[in-house]
Amino acid sequence: MNPFKSVGRWVEDRTGLAATLKPLLKHPVPPNTGWAYVFGSATLTLFIVQVITGVALATAYVPSTESAYTSLQYITHTAALGSMLRGMHYWGASLMVIFVGLHMIRVFLTGAFKFPREMNWLTGVVLLGLTLAMGFSGQLLRWDQNAVWSVVVGAEQAGRTPWIGGAIARFIIGGNTVGAATLSRFFAVHVFLVPGLIFAFIGAHLFLVIRNGISEPPQRGRPVDPKTYRAWYNDMLKRVGRPFWPDAAWRDAVVVLGLIVMLLLLAILRGPPELGKPPDPSIIEAHPRPDWYLLWYFAILALLPHGTESYFIILAPLVIGVSLFLVPLIANRGERSPARRPWAVGSVLVIVTLIGVLTLAGEREPWSPQYNTQPLSAQQIGADSGPVYAGALLFNTKGCQACHAIAGQGGVRGPDLSNVGARLNEQELTWRILNGGYNMPAYGSILTPDELHKLVVFLQSRSADAGE
Ligand code: HEC
Repeated sequence: MNPFKSVGRWVEDRTGLAATLKPLLKHPVPPNTGWAYVFGSATLTLFIVQVITGVALATAYVPSTESAYTSLQYITHTAALGSMLRGMHYWGASLMVIFVGLHMIRVFLTGAFKFPREMNWLTGVVLLGLTLAMGFSGQLLRWDQNAVWSVVVGAEQAGRTPWIGGAIARFIIGGNTVGAATLSRFFAVHVFLVPGLIFAFIGAHLFLVIRNGISEPPQRGRPVDPKTYRAWYNDMLKRVGRPFWPDAAWRDAVVVLGLIVMLLLLAILRGPPELGKPPDPSIIEAHPRPDWYLLWYFAILALLPHGTESYFIILAPLVIGVSLFLVPLIANRGERSPARRPWAVGSVLVIVTLIGVLTLAGEREPWSPQYNTQPLSAQQIGADSGPVYAGALLFNTKGCQACHAIAGQGGVRGPDLSNVGARLNEQELTWRILNGGYNMPAYGSILTPDELHKLVVFLQSRSADAGE
């Protein structure tokens, strides 16, 4: 007798595994579901990849303020497969956000959230929120300048919420300052709390998909009527239903394999994002920015008129969340076809465009230069006439001060120049001003040689050694 077969039979007899799974695989689904229906299983795949790579990363990551940064350096540069695991985890997160979005758009456009699948949508909205929470909490775990200051910015913004701001800020950072408690808190949230919730909600979500059946591709002029839909759906499945495996699921399998190959390629060819500098509370990061999929939200906060963002930071997620929750409650019947729902199509276009534009804006100029700084006083300049004085005035009128602070006065987009005379000589200063830099415009064609000379003389005077 074949020993494998008898072990298999024993396991099947004691567990009923195949007897349970087979009907799930073979259950009838509507015909012609097509490629638009693969985004859900793609998202699930990416989540599983995140769990596997995340657990692997956790074996070497040390969630303490002293060691987090060095342990990530170790993972990235020394540990076997470390760079690849970090890369997969990073790109997996990005792809997961994209596929959650695509899945949601597909479900919305095809009206699949309508009766009887309202709860499918509602559990999905929760999963969207949890996915973004994973992204935000994960970024802090890098514990570099950028990560730490992103959270500081987030907490500071939240802190300005009327009435409850202080409590929210303290809740986010686990105390009054960002430190050990913050990191422990984000680690627990990222590794235990949110993944646990995601598992629970994916379970509910999938149970509902099986229970209510996969929605059939919408057809013009066939509205959903809760009174008749279920009977019609079951009858349709009996007549023309196809077994889930392989008729529909082969596409899922192709996409799952494709995604895994793509992730491996991204992780090997592009690798994980470079870590920023280790965090130093005495250096204010000029423009902290979150990973790209949260950039649009930071961009809104940066673009809003001063003062209004306090309300926005808490109201916006509330409004977005409540609107998403209301979708299936107020529109659970009627036409499903996008051809008959111009408002639905229009709102998707508007929202996607808006997020795209805001993301670009955030990419370019998250913490814009300050154009209204006061010129330095004669006392701060150390002269009230001559080229040094003239250079100091140019420093303000030519917009340098919008990005550079001197003696604590000016923008923070570029480095502080209070002591630049000790750091750079005349040639280096001239070269920098003429050519600009990564985030600095080139002034070669803007300044006259005389103005350039005065600016350089002024900057050379800015040094502790030069006797202030
Ligand atoms: C839009 C913002 C912005 C403006 C305006 C700007 N800078 Fe800069 N500057 C930067 C940034 C950012 C850097 C850092 C280097 C880089 O990004 O390449 C920098 C670097 C420098 C440096 C080198 C500092 C160092 O420590 O290495 C000097 C000097 C300098 N800027 C002078 C000026 C002067 C003079 C002006 C006005 C004529 C000016 N900058 C206008 C953003 C700006």
